[in-house]
Amino acid sequence: MSNSRKVHVKSFGCQMNVYDSNRMADTLAPAGFSEAATPDDADLVILNTCHIREKAAEKVYSEIGRIRVMKEEAASQGRKMLIAVAGCVAQAEGQEIIRRAGAVDLVVGSQNYHRLPELVARAAEGEKIVDTEFPVEDKFEALAAPERAAIRKRGIASFVTVQEGCDKFCTFCVVPYTRGAEVSRPAAQIIAEVERLADAGVREVTLIGQNVNAYHGPGPNGADWTLAQLMRCLAEVPGIARLRYTTSHPRDMLDDLIAAHAELPQLMPFVHLPVQSGSNRILAAMNRKHTRDEYLAVTERLRAARPDLALSSDFIVGFPGETDADFEDTLTLIEEVGYAGAFSFMYSPRAGTPGAELKDQVPAAVKSERLQRLQALITRQQRAFNAGFAGRTVEVLLEKPGRLPGQLVGKSPYLQAIQVMAPQSLIGETVAVTVTEVGSNSLFGALQESAIAPKLAAAGA
Ligand code: SAH
Ligand code: SF4
Ligand code: F3S
Repeated sequence: MSNSRKVHVKSFGCQMNVYDSNRMADTLAPAGFSEAATPDDADLVILNTCHIREKAAEKVYSEIGRIRVMKEEAASQGRKMLIAVAGCVAQAEGQEIIRRAGAVDLVVGSQNYHRLPELVARAAEGEKIVDTEFPVEDKFEALAAPERAAIRKRGIASFVTVQEGCDKFCTFCVVPYTRGAEVSRPAAQIIAEVERLADAGVREVTLIGQNVNAYHGPGPNGADWTLAQLMRCLAEVPGIARLRYTTSHPRDMLDDLIAAHAELPQLMPFVHLPVQSGSNRILAAMNRKHTRDEYLAVTERLRAARPDLALSSDFIVGFPGETDADFEDTLTLIEEVGYAGAFSFMYSPRAGTPGAELKDQVPAAVKSERLQRLQALITRQQRAFNAGFAGRTVEVLLEKPGRLPGQLVGKSPYLQAIQVMAPQSLIGETVAVTVTEVGSNSLFGALQESAIAPKLAAAGA
């Protein structure tokens, strides 16, 4: 292989994998790797995988099959392509991946990405490598590594990991096993990263963690900070116009976080707050550690703090033992809360989790029927939510060129994509936009000219 090589990283699963994929590319840059948009002519293809449901895990093997064909093609042209599997399937299955898919050269768990340059060099010499240890050293050391100082801008909106892992052990979930115990990153590291991002032009930061509102990292004064304390500090970073956080657990919605929604204009009024089920019996069986009423109370307090706040959620249908009555409880909870959107899934038994051992598994046909009913309800709510924006003026952070020439696409406070005719010079600006049309996937709007004149002048357009 020559010194200038190409790496293609493909992400599956949650936002943390998206963040980690960028981090892997950053870590490999000093070793001479530049990023390739497609796998075809890459020297190294990394699949950053998800283990959350059976389908997600199986997808990895069909993807490896596809890449293997490219690897063979490359070999026939005398070019060497390495295949690496990272992320949660790597963590959960380790050696088994190479046994099942011989084309894979390297399996690396999420705690070991800082070792990638060395691991890749060894794999290039023909060694098959599995590195899925949870290291004893600081989990976040790699994130603070000096090469990350040269953080590259990846758009206007960026994720920043603040917390990783989970100690909640919901009985359906693999995350506590694939991501390990909950650890918070020191506040100073996060602040430094956000400052670098802001300098590079990032205007919106989404703080991410499997249990982001359980954040309790050491603050600059030594005492642990809450997520709200951290966000108060980040709101002061020059250039940062918007803050978000995901994913939250209802149990960790502390008073000061709810208060932050009332106090911080930078904190967007949109919270992803998974509930999974509306039935107390099922919530207990899932070990969610909260009741239906406790969840509803949290949503009410959030809305009292910020009346324009909207919510989204995750739902699982067909958890073992879920009866028709339990499922009806989920539908009534959805009616009661009124969501802007939601992700919903059929329960997928995962080996090693307590849920998989339970006797009364729900038949696939029942799960599928419940999922369709739930999704129909959510779709109705989502459409109604979006339709409510017709004719309204919203603040839009313009992110990049849109579908048509002369168009930019940005996000509303509620993460709705909005297409607007606007000059390129306004990318990175937050502008007032009047919604002219509500489409099925995005909104269309018109700039309020009077509001943007000073911004255009400042941008030199
Ligand atoms: N940390 C987040 C979510 C983690 S996984 C939280 O606590 O909410 C994202 C979503 O996948 C979960 O909210 C859940 O709805 C779904 N999920 C997790 N395990 C699942 C399983 N075994 N079967 C089906 N859906 C699952
Ligand atoms: Fe999984 Fe529950 Fe932890 Fe979320 S809180 S990551 S669903 S165990
Ligand atoms: Fe999937 Fe791992 Fe995220 S299992 S959802 S990629 S934490």
